[in-house]
Amino acid sequence: MTHVQRVDYTGEGLSEAEVAPTPWQQARRWVDEALARERDLGDVPEPLALSVATVDADGQPNVRTVLMRFFDERGPGFVTNTESAKGLEIAATGGMAASLTWPSMFRAVRFRGQAQLIGREEVTAYFSSRPWASRISAWASRQSEPIEGREGLEEAFERYAVRWPDRGGPHDVPVPDFWGGYRLHCDEVEFWGGRRNRLHDRLVFTRVTDGSLDDADAWRMFRRQP
Ligand SMILES: Cc1cc2nc3c(=O)[nH]c(=O)nc-3n(C[C@H](O)[C@H](O)[C@H](O)COP(=O)(O)O)c2cc1C
Repeated sequence: MTHVQRVDYTGEGLSEAEVAPTPWQQARRWVDEALARERDLGDVPEPLALSVATVDADGQPNVRTVLMRFFDERGPGFVTNTESAKGLEIAATGGMAASLTWPSMFRAVRFRGQAQLIGREEVTAYFSSRPWASRISAWASRQSEPIEGREGLEEAFERYAVRWPDRGGPHDVPVPDFWGGYRLHCDEVEFWGGRRNRLHDRLVFTRVTDGSLDDADAWRMFRRQP
C-alpha cells in the first residue's frame, strides 16, 4: 500500500442556497475565484488546467490535460492538433468529459457532453494571438505520432521558422489546417465542494432541454451523495 496522508477537506462546500441559478454563472464564479486565488496566494497553479477525457472507436477511454482557452455560455473549449489521438477519438465517438480541479480550494467542476469543433474564425483569432514560437511549434509537431528522437522535432521547428520568420505580426504564420479547437457542449455540470468527514457537497445541473449554460430553463439542479 502506498503511504497515505489523510487530509480532512475543510472547504466551505456549496449549498442549494448559495449556488447560482445557472451552471454558467456558478462555473464563472468558481473559475474567477480560482484565478484570483492564484494571483493573491499562488497556491492554484494553472487554474485553467482542464482534464479532458475522450473515447476511441473501441470504447477505450483516454485522458489528458489541456488549457481551457475558451469559456463562455456555450461551454469550455481548448485548442489542439485535430489529428492527435484526442482529435481522432472525438471524430470516432464525439463523447467528451472534462474537469477543472483546484485541490487547495477543495473544489472541482466536472463537465460531460459532446465535443464540437470550434469555427475557423474563432480558431484563427486565437492562433494569431499566440507567441510566434508557439505558432511555429504547432506546425513542427504531428501530435501523438511516434518520432525517433527529439532532434527530428527541433529540425522541423527550424525548418518552419525559416519558412515563416518572426516579423512581429499576428499573421506571420498561417494556421495549420490540422490545428483547431473543440468546445464541450454540456449535458451535465457538477460542482464538487470538499467538506469535513468526507461529507462533500455535489450539486449537479443536468440538461432538460436545449439552451446555453446560462439558460435557467434548460437545466434542472439536484444534489448527489458524496
Ligand atoms: C498543464 C498542461 C497544459 C497542456 N495544454 C495543452 C493544450 O492546450 N493543448 C494540447 O493539445 N495539449 C496540451 N497539453 C499536452 C496534452 O496533455 C497532451 O500531451 C497532448 O494534447 C496530446 O494528447 P493526445 O495524444 O491524447 O491527443 C498540456 C499538458 C499539460 C500538462
